[in-house]
Amino acid sequence: MATGTAGGLLDDPHAQSVFKHEILRQYLPPFIAMPGSTAVGKQVVVLDGFAGRGRYPDGSPGSAELILRAMRSFQNSRNVFGFFVEKDQALYANLSGVVEEYSSQGLSARAFAGSVEDHLDIVIRQAAPSPLLLFLDPCGAGLPFDRLVQVLVGPRRAARPQTEVLLNFSADLTRRAAGVVAGEGCAPRTARSRRRCRPLVAVRRGPAT
Ligand SMILES: C[S@@+](CC[C@H](N)C(=O)[O-])C[C@H]1O[C@@H](n2cnc3c(N)ncnc32)[C@H](O)[C@@H]1O
Repeated sequence: MATGTAGGLLDDPHAQSVFKHEILRQYLPPFIAMPGSTAVGKQVVVLDGFAGRGRYPDGSPGSAELILRAMRSFQNSRNVFGFFVEKDQALYANLSGVVEEYSSQGLSARAFAGSVEDHLDIVIRQAAPSPLLLFLDPCGAGLPFDRLVQVLVGPRRAARPQTEVLLNFSADLTRRAAGVVAGEGCAPRTARSRRRCRPLVAVRRGPAT
């Protein structure tokens, strides 16, 4: 049975989306309000690294629009930057339209096409003096752990501002990866199969030390 985006995950607010959206809805206002109140220039940065389409076909908000709405509710009291990244071209086209609706109302919101890894440095630079919230909601393999660890234990760690991560962790993918690596499935003999196994090994072993 198709799962993830192929199974219509992004066409309809399924149960798991309802839960994660509720967490996001409740988490954002205190994050923007509290660390934002003492931040330089009252600036806060939010990254939606696996943003999807932004809004569902039935008009209900995806993660991106929930973040944009929270940004709008603080428009007069905080300086919130929102970054939204989506790899799939068709979904990105939809996402960028939604982001444009809000940026044309004066919000500092930008959509990027492509992989979150390729845009992470821009976000980290923008957030250098500011509290940063990373919302990472992949369908399968997400941001490689070593990249995430770099952000969390890099220069931002030594001093405030806060860095927080809301991570939708795929237990299914992890179980499959662990099974492949622990079993015969990951004893690659050819260069091609070594390349295919590498991300699974990384998921199982975690960051290189
Ligand atoms: C679970 S969906 C996102 C749902 C969205 N966060 C929401 O709640 O409305 C995951 C999305 O990540 C996208 N994606 C997958 N790999 C990506 C990557 N490396 N960088 C950015 N987006 C990626 C997929 O195309 C898919 O749209």
